[in-house]
Amino acid sequence: MSKEAKLEKLAAMRETVILGGGEKKIEKQHQSGKMTARERINALLDEGSFVELDQFVTHRGTNFGMDKVEAPGEGVVTGYGTVDGRLVYVFSQDFTVLGGSLGEMHAAKICKVMDLAVKVGAPCIGINDSGGARIQEGVDALNGYGEIFKRNTLASGVIPQLSVIMGPCAGGAVYSPALTDFVFMVNKANMFITGPQVIKSVTGEEVSAEALGGAMAHNKTSGNAHFYAADEAECIAQIRRLLSFLPGNNLEGAPICECSDPAERMDEILRDVVPDNPNQAYDMHDVITAIADNHDFFEVQPYWAANILVGFIRLNGISVGVIANQPKVMAGCLDINASDKAGRFIRFCDAMGIPMVTFVDTPGYLPGVAQEHGGIIRHGAKLLYAYSEASVPLLTVITRKAYGGAYLAMCAKSLGADTVIAWPSAQIAVMGAQGAANIVFRKEIESADDPQAKRQEKIAEYEDKFSNPYCAANRGMVDIVTEPEYTRFYLIKSLDSLLTKKESRPGKKHGNLPC
Ligand code: HXC
Repeated sequence: MSKEAKLEKLAAMRETVILGGGEKKIEKQHQSGKMTARERINALLDEGSFVELDQFVTHRGTNFGMDKVEAPGEGVVTGYGTVDGRLVYVFSQDFTVLGGSLGEMHAAKICKVMDLAVKVGAPCIGINDSGGARIQEGVDALNGYGEIFKRNTLASGVIPQLSVIMGPCAGGAVYSPALTDFVFMVNKANMFITGPQVIKSVTGEEVSAEALGGAMAHNKTSGNAHFYAADEAECIAQIRRLLSFLPGNNLEGAPICECSDPAERMDEILRDVVPDNPNQAYDMHDVITAIADNHDFFEVQPYWAANILVGFIRLNGISVGVIANQPKVMAGCLDINASDKAGRFIRFCDAMGIPMVTFVDTPGYLPGVAQEHGGIIRHGAKLLYAYSEASVPLLTVITRKAYGGAYLAMCAKSLGADTVIAWPSAQIAVMGAQGAANIVFRKEIESADDPQAKRQEKIAEYEDKFSNPYCAANRGMVDIVTEPEYTRFYLIKSLDSLLTKKESRPGKKHGNLPC
């Protein structure tokens, strides 16, 4: 074969792979509002940065006529490129080739990029659009999933892992996204272990695929997904934005950007954000955005467990994870879902060396039989565990209520907070004044000539004594009591002083997180 012929052969082979399942299937993909696997990669990565690997990998299946089936690219496009100039590894399942189903060699392609991502310390992004295990390959397909799950687990805490669900993701296939750090879902994508038909035959329940495992179902109800997007373009913008806050790996440190927002900027709205009435709600978003560089808060899981907020801001250009009670939802109580949501986020930030700021205004853990029987004890313990384990700079701002166990669970000094800042409106106590007065002064109130007046007197007495930041400040459990508008200044100063923080932990194989 001449040199030219060899080059022509390569070009023809490459063209076949690039065409995947062919024009008709690509058209079908477009008609259903979806990009192809390659279009998704091109939209995600910086223009011209994608380097494809393993274009010519082929399956080795022979059962059920598979020896005669061509699967160009093996149903998955893999490689690396950059996002805003920073290296990422990516795999993108190609639904036009055997429904993006996962067989032995499809899995091998994915495992190769996962291994490379860990070796070089760069995020790994998996775009899922697949009918699941390639049925014709049987146990080889299952084994492929096992290889991926194992790698997801070993890479956890080493590199950021992002899963993007842009089509079907069913059966055991869902466990790779579940093992990764962040799950993005696009409207009309689905994720479930058993689909509507199986559910109907087993339990008799009737449910649509969308209601069962659609993007909003997982963003709002199950908490399995972290980001919802109306379409693929929006989803890709979200992924790029998230990556801008993350390091490439656990040793790199949080990214630092140029900051155009003065560190000493004071936002007067902070003076009035906490209402005088301690039972009146306010929106903690207002506090976070007033303090963040350029008022920019990138919220994670905004639709689920909205009584706690998590996400990323920058302080003087440094990426910081935020955990905040939300007094506007359930008065900012901590419950099972809030504990799960925040616990996992805290562990991600700590693993990746991202400092954290915790904003506190919570009356406590949510009372109720459903919560107790649902395991609020072990779920709530996740917050205590995650903060106690964390060794990154930990800053806490108490805006109002910090009662009881929830005071501790929201990164109190004793759990490891390096700097605790309290506003004059802070109330750091075992419980609220009303409840406390009813318990401690019950006999005195009952035997008074005017029990109502006595009760008010005792509430006022308790409030005067404990519903303030000064008892805690007297003991050094609060480092700085400040006017609210100085909070940004003190957080930045404190963060700056803590960047070289080093804390060691006792040697062990691993801890045993309550779950
Ligand atoms: C092999 C598959 C496949 C699979 C789809 N295809 N899923 N081939 N193995 N798992 C093929 C179809 O035969 C079809 O091929 C092409 O992909 C497109 O599929 P369609 O059905 O035409 O597409 P659509 O109507 O959009 O439906 C998509 C779908 C459906 C909802 C995903 O294909 C489906 O239900 N697939 C099976 C899902 C499933 O049960 N998977 C196994 C789960 S068990 P042609 O040649 O006709 O174009 C599992 C265990 C993992 O995953 C355990 C890990 C621990």
